[in-house]
Amino acid sequence: MAAATLSFLPIPRRRPSASSFYLKKNGGSREGFRVLAVYRGEGGEGEGGHEKKTTWEAIFDVENPKPRVLPSDGEFLDAHQALEVAKLDIQYCDWRARQDLLAIMLLHDKVVEVLNPMAREFKSIGTMKKELASLQEELADAHREVHISEARISTALDKLAYMESLVNDRLLPERSSSEPSADSAPHAPSTSLASTDSVEVKPLRRSLNVSGPVKPYHPNLKNFWYPVAFSNDLKDDTMIPIDCFEEPWVIFRGKDGKPGCVQNTCAHRACPLHLGSVNEGRIQCPYHGWEYSTDGKCEKMPSTRMLNVRIRSLPCFEQEGMVWIWPGDEVPSKSIPCLKPPPGFTVHAEIVMELPVEHGLLLDNLLDLAHAPFTHTSTFAKGWSVPSLVKFLTPKSGLQGYWDPYPIDMEFRPPCIVLSTIGISKPGKLEGKNTRQCSTHLHQLHVCLPISREKTRLLYRMSLDFAPLLKHVPFMHILWKYFADKVLNEDLRLVIGQQERMINGANIWNFPVSYDKLGIRYRLWRDSLERDSKKLPFTNQDNE
Ligand code: FES
Ligand SMILES: [Fe+2]
Repeated sequence: MAAATLSFLPIPRRRPSASSFYLKKNGGSREGFRVLAVYRGEGGEGEGGHEKKTTWEAIFDVENPKPRVLPSDGEFLDAHQALEVAKLDIQYCDWRARQDLLAIMLLHDKVVEVLNPMAREFKSIGTMKKELASLQEELADAHREVHISEARISTALDKLAYMESLVNDRLLPERSSSEPSADSAPHAPSTSLASTDSVEVKPLRRSLNVSGPVKPYHPNLKNFWYPVAFSNDLKDDTMIPIDCFEEPWVIFRGKDGKPGCVQNTCAHRACPLHLGSVNEGRIQCPYHGWEYSTDGKCEKMPSTRMLNVRIRSLPCFEQEGMVWIWPGDEVPSKSIPCLKPPPGFTVHAEIVMELPVEHGLLLDNLLDLAHAPFTHTSTFAKGWSVPSLVKFLTPKSGLQGYWDPYPIDMEFRPPCIVLSTIGISKPGKLEGKNTRQCSTHLHQLHVCLPISREKTRLLYRMSLDFAPLLKHVPFMHILWKYFADKVLNEDLRLVIGQQERMINGANIWNFPVSYDKLGIRYRLWRDSLERDSKKLPFTNQDNE
């Protein structure tokens, strides 16, 4: 353990081949000890049997740090002050460790003196035994002190690392004003939004409790445009049943070719409509043949007198290859977000899956990259080394940024979308470059639509800015689907396990660390939305 303590001390440039220490007491004060080390040098002047006297005084000649000035009661430290306090702690621990080490060395010298045959001549065996026992006790005490010092140093270093992460959090947005944003880079495919956010970044380890059974969805979460299907999957005569916020809906195209979304329950006797068919832009119930248009109006009622009947419908639009719905009860916002891949990319795969986890848990997973070298060892992260530090850097205080050391840009787009751009240099060689330095890229869109409190409809779209012909290779989509399934299954077994524990009371955000920043920001955003906050954090969008 002394060796462990020494590792925190400055080490002389040349290590002695053999050394002995001479200790001089000065004025009886422990702070006044001076230690001289005499050693045989390994070369130069020290060779040829000449003993060279050098000094290790520097190791012990350290002033007792002055007492810290603490803020008055009830006053919080800002990040810089906290960092200063952590540094003073470390200085004090360092001084303490040096004193403990010095004490051990002094005791060691005394033991040597007692055991010295010359000294023994002048002392009785009994006296020597007593002295030895007392010295052993002192030595044991000193060792204990060293242990305590080590623990103090370790705690202080932890504190310093945490303070650094807080300072980084605070400083990065300030620095970003002088950094080019991912959006402004001319050749960089980007997933970033222009952010005008001015909300202060809060410390990561603030109280965040996500535990227990999932609560019913807050109405505020429904007041967004949600992409629910890819346009390519919705033909003129097909229907796509979707469950959204625990209600069944069905999408089909009207006579004008535009998509509509109506409740998937017949007004007559609650038969699921998607089991029927689409005739001339109307969805026909398979039970008694009632037919509904895309606005929910019943337009045909065979074998009976026509009545004025209507089923619920949702605002529904098609944009850039996706069908969107507005499940909330507020007036829909005028604009639908753009989810197109950046210019120069070609879409290679569009996959829809239903997953047995709550959508927040899936988002937490997608917004985390630090897990990749541990979880995705059979797929995209095969062969990745485990970096000593993984960071998510936000050029502006917002919900987008880039990963270090991975060349990956990532963004959370409310309410449930994750966009990422991955720089590809060589397979398995992702580290050490940012996306701008990579010549080829993969762009991903993940939409996590809440089906119910334990199910998510995942829409996945993958685009590449290279190998456009790959798109025309037969059965390629099967290969992409296989790969996407495999990656997701690596995550799912873990997330399902988390979900079980969460439902039984475990907090899935119990101990966030700095690489959890984006996931935490998503949770803070959602928490704020569900608390009816007027201004949502990390975005200038009010709940429109
Ligand atoms: S249940 Fe649909 S028409 Fe009777
Ligand atoms: Fe994953």
